Amino acid sequence: MHLRSIYAGLLALASYTWAQQEYFAPGSHQDYNEGLFTPAEDLSALSEVQFTTLKHPSFPRHSIRIKKSSFCDSSVKSYTGYIDIEARHLFFYFFESRSDPDKDDVIFWTNGGPGCSSSLGLFMELGPCRVLDSDGPQFHPESWNSNANIFFIDQPIGVGFSYAEYGETVGTTEEAAKDIASFVAIFFENFSKFKGRAFHMAGESYAGRYIPVFAAEIYDQNVKLIDEGLTPINLTSIMIGNGITDFYTMTASYYDMACTPASLPPILDISTCMRMKQALPRCQKWLKESCIDTYDAINCGAAAQFCGIELSDPFFYSGKNPYDISKDCEGAISDTLCYPVTKHISSYLDRPSVRSQLGVDPSITSNFSSCSSEVGQAFWQNLDEYRPTYNYVAALLERGVKALIYVGTYDWICNFVGNEQWTLALEWSGQEEFGKQGLREWIVNGKTAGTMRSAKGLTFATIQGAGHMVPYDKPKESLELVNRWLSNKDL
Ligand SMILES: *[C@@H]1O[C@H](CO)[C@@H](O)[C@H](O)[C@H]1NC(C)=O
Ligand SMILES: *[C@@H]1O[C@H](CO)[C@@H](O)[C@H](O)[C@H]1NC(C)=O
Ligand SMILES: *[C@@H]1O[C@H](CO)[C@@H](O)[C@H](O)[C@H]1NC(C)=O
Repeated sequence: MHLRSIYAGLLALASYTWAQQEYFAPGSHQDYNEGLFTPAEDLSALSEVQFTTLKHPSFPRHSIRIKKSSFCDSSVKSYTGYIDIEARHLFFYFFESRSDPDKDDVIFWTNGGPGCSSSLGLFMELGPCRVLDSDGPQFHPESWNSNANIFFIDQPIGVGFSYAEYGETVGTTEEAAKDIASFVAIFFENFSKFKGRAFHMAGESYAGRYIPVFAAEIYDQNVKLIDEGLTPINLTSIMIGNGITDFYTMTASYYDMACTPASLPPILDISTCMRMKQALPRCQKWLKESCIDTYDAINCGAAAQFCGIELSDPFFYSGKNPYDISKDCEGAISDTLCYPVTKHISSYLDRPSVRSQLGVDPSITSNFSSCSSEVGQAFWQNLDEYRPTYNYVAALLERGVKALIYVGTYDWICNFVGNEQWTLALEWSGQEEFGKQGLREWIVNGKTAGTMRSAKGLTFATIQGAGHMVPYDKPKESLELVNRWLSNKDL
């Protein structure tokens, strides 16, 4: 597989006021449910040893298999299961908040890839327990469920413990979004105590492409939910960590990251940098003409290949960790993603006792792999990455859904230079106001955590000294970032 297609990423948040929505009729949102639904039975009554199947009349093709799963965080209620969408089955972990589950917001988390499992986010980065060595899970004090209910989903089908019958596959973000929108709708219908709760969609890396499309699908789906008398999803924000939202600015930024002191001192030698600098205008012109201005698959693919060889490959030959330029890659990237800890997570998820505790479908017999190369390849073949998603972010902002774009400064692959550029270039009603803001420092425990600018619901923030997996490198700062975001405070 082309190396660049591995973005081992995570996610983000959004917010709007329901009362401002034209379709929001006077009265409380409870109106939607009258007569239609009996409140869900208490989920904590579910069995730990077998699945309970939940069905919903508005989604005749869907059901949920869910079980209580008292692992990882004994201080909260946790559940694992599948949302079944006909022959497609999406696996999820759900943890209630450590603070006030009956009031706290709900976060949706997905890793990137495309094709990587959200178990990476859970067990390596921001989950209630982490598997950082062969001893298995350890309580994680800086978990993002400190003040929020959170779920981690393996998506699209074919990733992690998610699967499909009859060989169905997903190879584009738009296709994946349909399953996610169904997933979220069913989730809230059957976890009914969370209905109407502020909902934040977050992810990392390739989720910079996923999340804006998923959130837009969920926003638009609300019309259908309301028509059917259901409670709309209270989509409040998106949060994207080290995302690939705009391949175009990101491609150009590979020069800045490797050849200038944008982050750390230049990495590559002068002659390599001269060659990159010369290739850059041709790469940009070609990408713009064949991927952006008009989309021509053959030309766009050729441009992507040219840019990959000239601007990315020199970095990979350096042996540096593409997710953290302050380090060398440990192990082969295709095996460890440069982080041997990923192997501990896989062996943990291969333990038969863990699989049965989680309720992994018995049809899944193969060893766990952090990232599915089949899924990655399918997305690559469709050049899915070459469809930028910043306009979805603008569309969400215009509808009151907030966006947090946070970036660890040591990441190369989805770096802060490219991310800052697209946030400034974004065309939306807040563009001028956002552009006028200077970068200022944000502080955690009296120390500079990074820089940020914010206006009209859009926030761009860096986390100094963190790589691609921000919560892995900087757990305290990243939890502080999320807590302040959830509580609508300034960073
Ligand atoms: C799931 O939703 C359906 C339809 O509202 C309802 O009949 C069922 O009781 C719900 N089950 C749970 C456990 O929420
Ligand atoms: C959506 O969430 C916000 C933030 O918690 C809350 O103020 C608002 O009432 C919620 N809207 C609905 C319709 O429940
Ligand atoms: C699965 O993992 C085990 C333990 O690491 C190994 O012995 C076995 O060969 C693996 N199976 C496959 C099909 O790769």
